[in-house]
Amino acid sequence: MCGIVGFTGNVPADKILIDGLKKLEYRGYDSAGVALAYPGRLDVIRRTGKVAVLEEALSNDEHASCCGIGHTRWATHGRPSETNAHPHIDCHGNIAIVHNGIIENFVALRDELIAEGHTFRSQTDTEVVAHLLERYYEGDLVAAMRKATQQLQGAYGIAAVCVDAPDQIVVTRKDSPIVIGMSDGDVKGSFIGSDMIALLEYTRDAIFLDDGQIALLRPNSIEVFDRSGKTVEPTWTHVDWDAENAEHAGYPDFMLKEIYEQPRAVRDTIAGCVKNGEVILDELTLDDEDIAAIDSVYIIGCGTSYHAGLVARELIEGWARIPTTVDVASEFRYRNPIVTPSTLVIAISQSGETADTLAAVRLARSKGAKVFAVTNVVGSRITRESDGAFYVKANMEISVAATKSFLAQIACLSLIAMFLAQKKHRLTSNQVASLYSDLCETPSQIEAILENQNEIEEAAELISKAHSAMYVGRGIGATICKEGALKLKEISYLHAEAYAAGELKHGPIALLDENVPVVAVVTDSPTRMQTLSNVQEALARGSHIVAVATEGDTEVSEIADYVLYIPRTRDWCSAITASVPLQLLARHVALKRGCDVDHPRNLAKSVTVE
Ligand code: F6R
Repeated sequence: MCGIVGFTGNVPADKILIDGLKKLEYRGYDSAGVALAYPGRLDVIRRTGKVAVLEEALSNDEHASCCGIGHTRWATHGRPSETNAHPHIDCHGNIAIVHNGIIENFVALRDELIAEGHTFRSQTDTEVVAHLLERYYEGDLVAAMRKATQQLQGAYGIAAVCVDAPDQIVVTRKDSPIVIGMSDGDVKGSFIGSDMIALLEYTRDAIFLDDGQIALLRPNSIEVFDRSGKTVEPTWTHVDWDAENAEHAGYPDFMLKEIYEQPRAVRDTIAGCVKNGEVILDELTLDDEDIAAIDSVYIIGCGTSYHAGLVARELIEGWARIPTTVDVASEFRYRNPIVTPSTLVIAISQSGETADTLAAVRLARSKGAKVFAVTNVVGSRITRESDGAFYVKANMEISVAATKSFLAQIACLSLIAMFLAQKKHRLTSNQVASLYSDLCETPSQIEAILENQNEIEEAAELISKAHSAMYVGRGIGATICKEGALKLKEISYLHAEAYAAGELKHGPIALLDENVPVVAVVTDSPTRMQTLSNVQEALARGSHIVAVATEGDTEVSEIADYVLYIPRTRDWCSAITASVPLQLLARHVALKRGCDVDHPRNLAKSVTVE
């Protein structure tokens, strides 16, 4: 949930650590700190609040150390405070560590360590790691890390420095990402990050550390060891992202920038995937026999990725006629889901690191199912634990509120649905070619929506003054509503509900009055008329209506207060296009309510804890 950076090299580390921490700010945090290593001494500087406050504190002194670790903390155990901020040190200030994740058995370990005479200063679960390293340290920090992590239960990415080897960093992980890289440009040295974005300015080639591996970083070398202490040859992965992608590029916030990047994200994701009516998905490494044996599909994901899964169910069932279940990963992992070797499991995760989705992947594989990941992050944990991975080409997504990755996921999932339908002989080549041609239209349709945003501001003004908003639609529209309502909640902190429009009269209609506006997705679909009737029911209760409708739909404009138009498109393609006005609407509402759209409170970009 938080960020780790580290550097050992040829220039002072403080500025590099601060730059890295700034790049990780988007992930959400409440305090930040660094530890700079010197022979016989560690300087640990921590502050609550923004990285800029830490930067200011560091600027008061010269820091010559060329080796250090840094952290942004998102409080789990112990309130946000300077004492609870990382790095944490052992009793004598000889070892400093930063940690992402949660140490589940920290209470027992802390009691044990206190009984041994260790003094604790913070309320965190993390501090036990510093004292465990102290317990096991006999001049070799790698060996101490191996012994210390054998005691830990839970999830962790840990980096440590020690006064005895002040140009070395030792790092390890379990269920929490750690990326390592090297640069031999002007800044020469070895880097770590909990996210590739922290390294991108220096390198695009990285080692994504595996669970249980320990790495020793020196200015000119990286050594990786397995659990038993044997040296292993690390796998280097090239990441095709631009450092510039992490810049605002003239946009007021990352969310808006990424909304505008959606046409490209969809185009890049689908490019070249259908040739002469044949869907080409080399990533789906299933032969004809495997595909013939598939009798069900299970889709798992969380939040926005789960919503992409709901869209995929409509497409897979509609085109391939394979029974498809969609579940939130946090529920799936604790049930006894009906998954067998003939179930195809699709795990959707933008980050590829979401703890619940990862656990769900492991469960599905333990039941003998083949699992394919749909993700945006090369080398991420979920991709490495799945049987195959489809990479959506959204490029790095920084805004906590997912936008471009969602549209790219839907585009990718629609190709998977076409592929399965074709292999199951439910769609002919001509039909696939026609579906693909509709899909290829969506990027320019998004561009048209972005060019013509009339009424969004006014609609946002209306919603920003409400105390709750009701989103309704049917079919694909119902899912788009779920995603639209989620966007509104997470960035504007305004309560919103999303309902299948036909469900309104079974309860939620009791909420409606002139203070609860209804956002209705009434695009061209087989159920447009039924949805319109539900809108009338809402009108009759005094609700103001904001509608998403197809250009030229005067019937809707007659009854709605504001209409956000999208170009005429196939119903299934509206999963992509109709999402865009709802993203923009949520952003405008958030801005009108004075919210920081890129840093929504209490949220983190990648949720690597349960
Ligand atoms: C909402 C949002 C979250 C994520 C969810 C899953 O805008 O971003 O709901 O979709 O935390 O994250 P991934 O897709 O990384 O598994």
